[in-house]
Amino acid sequence: MREKVAVIGAGTIGTAVALALKKSGNEVIATRRKKEKISFLEDEGIKVCSDNRTAILSSEIVLISLKPVDAVNELKKFADELRGKIIISLAAALPIDLIKKILSNSYAARAMTNIAARVGGGFTVYCFENRFPEGYKERVRELLSSFGKIEEVEEKYMDALTALSGSGPAYILTVIESMMYAGLKVGLPRDLALRASYETVLGSAKLVGESGDHPSILKELVITPAGVTIDAIYELEDSGIRTAFIRAIESATKKSEKITREIMEKFKD
Ligand SMILES: NC(=O)c1ccc[n+]([C@@H]2O[C@H](COP(=O)([O-])OP(=O)(O)OC[C@H]3O[C@@H](n4cnc5c(N)ncnc54)[C@H](OP(=O)(O)O)[C@@H]3O)[C@@H](O)[C@H]2O)c1
Repeated sequence: MREKVAVIGAGTIGTAVALALKKSGNEVIATRRKKEKISFLEDEGIKVCSDNRTAILSSEIVLISLKPVDAVNELKKFADELRGKIIISLAAALPIDLIKKILSNSYAARAMTNIAARVGGGFTVYCFENRFPEGYKERVRELLSSFGKIEEVEEKYMDALTALSGSGPAYILTVIESMMYAGLKVGLPRDLALRASYETVLGSAKLVGESGDHPSILKELVITPAGVTIDAIYELEDSGIRTAFIRAIESATKKSEKITREIMEKFKD
C-alpha cells in the first residue's frame, strides 16, 4: 500500500528511514530545521521542508525521528494537527504512555530501528498502544518492513533492545574495524583485510539466522583440536571479550532506562 508519510527530524536515522520508505514506493516528506542539509533527498523524489506543520498536514502517517525531548516538544506543538493520524515514534527512551498523554486522539506506535535500515538491513522492534486499531497495524508493519526485519515486542524490552540492536551496529562495526586492523598487523592489504572482515561477519550472521543453531554449536565447527582457531579464541577469552560485551550492553541499557526516567520526570505534568 502506498502511504503518505512524514518523517519529522530527518537527521541520521530519519534520513535512512525516509530513503527506505521512498524506495518501498511510499510518498515521503521529510523535515529538519536546516533543510538545505537534506536537499539531496529531493533527488530521490522525497519532498523536503523545514515546516513540520505542512509535513504533518500532508501525511496520514507521521514518523518521529527526533531526540526524545525535541519529540515531546514537537508532539505538544502539533497535537491538533496530529489528531486521527498514525504516529510512529522512533525516538529512544520515549514511552508510549507519554506520547498518549500528549496525543490522546492519535494512534501511537513506538519502534526502535538501527542504522542498517539505510541498506534495508535494519532490525526494527515495535509495539503499539493498547487501543491501536487492529486494521491499522498492518500498515505500520508494512512501513517498518521497508527498513529490514521487524519484530513486535513488549514495551518493557525497549530499553534493552535500544542498547542491543539500536546501538548494536556501533559494536559490530568496532569488531569489523578491529578485525581489519588485525589483518593489517599480519600484513594483508587494506581492502582485502576490510572485505575479509565484513564478509566474515555477514556470513557468520547468515549462518546463525539460516541454520537456527546456537552460535556456540556453530563455533565448535571451526575450532579443531590444536588448530589455528583455538589460539585466537584463547586470546579473546583471556581479554574478556564476552564480559566486555555483556558489560557494555548492560551499561547502555541502564543509560536508556535513566533517560526514560528523566523524560517521564521532566514531562510529568
Ligand atoms: N542514529 C541511530 O543509529 C539511531 C538508531 C535508533 C534510534 N535512534 C533515535 O532516533 C532519534 C534521532 O537520532 P539521530 O541519531 O538521527 O539524531 P540526529 O542525527 O541529531 O537527527 C535529529 C534531527 O532532528 C532535526 N531536528 C531537531 N529539532 C527539530 C525540529 N523541531 N523540527 C524538525 N527537525 C528537527 C535535527 O536537524 P536540525 O537541527 O536541522 O533541525 C537533526 O538532524 C533519537 O531519538 C535516537 O535515539 C537513532
